[in-house]
Order: sequence, then C-alpha cells, then structure tokens
Amino acid sequence: MQNVTIMDHPLIKHKISMLRDKNTGTNEFRTLVEEIAMLMGFEALRDLPTEDVEIETPIEKCKEPMIAGKKLAVVPILRAGLGMVGGILNLVPTAKVGHIGLYRDPETHEPHEYYCKLPAPIDQRTILVVDPMLATGGSGADAVSMIKEHGGKNIKFMCIIAAPEGLERLHQAHPDIQIYVGALDRELNENAYICPGLGDAGDRIFGTK
Ligand code: PRP
Ligand code: URA
Repeated sequence: MQNVTIMDHPLIKHKISMLRDKNTGTNEFRTLVEEIAMLMGFEALRDLPTEDVEIETPIEKCKEPMIAGKKLAVVPILRAGLGMVGGILNLVPTAKVGHIGLYRDPETHEPHEYYCKLPAPIDQRTILVVDPMLATGGSGADAVSMIKEHGGKNIKFMCIIAAPEGLERLHQAHPDIQIYVGALDRELNENAYICPGLGDAGDRIFGTK
C-alpha cells in the first residue's frame, strides 16, 4: 500500500510484544509506549526539512544542517495518544502539541469529537498524529479530517498496532498522508477490538477500567 510503512525493526517488535503481555503493568506499559513512539518517530521524521546554519566549532566556522522552518506539531488523539507524546518530544523538544479528543461509541464503535485545540498556524508545520491503536480507523480518519479542516497539509499518522480494516479505512479516506504502523495485526473482534492486540490502550496507560 502506497504511503504506508510497517515497522520491521527488531527493537520495535520486541517492545510491542512486551506491550501485548497482559501481565505488563501500568508503569512498564507507559514506558514502553513512550519508547516505541520514539523509535517509530525516528523513522517517521526522517524527511523533516533541514537548512544549513552557520556554526563555529572549536576549529572553524562551518554551515551545517538544522531542522528548518516551523518544525513539527505532534497531535495525540485523547486519551491513549497522550502516552506517545513524550517519545516524540524526546526527539524534537521544540515541537508544538495539539490535542484532539475522540471517544468511540460503545455500541456503534463510531468516534465522537469532544475536544480540538491545534497550534496555529498549522498549515506550515509537519503534523504527526499519534494514537497507539488503529482499530476500525474511524478515530484516525476523523482526526485527520479535523486537522485538514483547520488547514493542516503535511500530515503523518503513527500508530503502534493497526487492524487491516482500520488501515484500509484511513488510507482510503486520506490517501495523501503518510501512515506508520508498528505492527499490523490479524483482525477486529465483534467488539471492534484488535486481535491479538493489547486490549484497551487508554485503560492500560492510565490504569483505569
Ligand atoms: C481508542 C484508541 C483510538 C481508538 C481506535 O480510544 O486510543 O483512539 O480507540 O479505535 P477506532 O480505530 O475504531 O476508532 P477510545 O475511543 O477507547 O478512547 P480512550 O483513548 O479515551 O480510551
Ligand atoms: N481501542 C483500543 O484501545 N484497543 C483496541 O483493540 C481497539 C480500540
């Protein structure tokens, strides 16, 4: 699928396997989500534009690349996406952070918006939308639509685990965006949970149930 990257690095695979384990507790789960976000972010941000700036080393003056322009906005989908923000900010501490609040209706599994606050102007930034789970794809597709309505153009979406159904839906709705997936799982179950997945990402990050 064009514009879709499935991660194949053994360190990412190993950490995702640890996330899946039902015996992994909240503290370790949070740490793993942040570490995976950082490792995936390293790949997803490999095309961030740079510009040569003058630097004086102890030896001489030189022109060397630094991240250019308005840089990055990272936009977590609440709640679970919040767990990935720290990993991206470790890589790009100057990134701005927007928030999109969506929850899935327990019956229809369709997303409902309850919050949207994005850094302005958004149109000149690379925007990295983060959410650990891409299940039906409804939340991801709606979040990207909301960002586009606010003028966002250069959008990337990063999730730790995707179901084939969700990846297809997001790609169909937004073929122009780059999608980065940590692991592509088998299918959704009757409750629209990813199998084998990791359960409810928000509950596992925040210790709720
Ligand atoms: C989860 C997850 C995604 C969404 C994925 O959030 O973090 O946002 O479900 O499902 P979809 O692809 O079928 O839309 P949830 O709605 O459970 O909210 P929460 O993060 O607040 O727990
Ligand atoms: N949201 C989750 O947190 N997990 C799933 O498997 C599906 C949606």
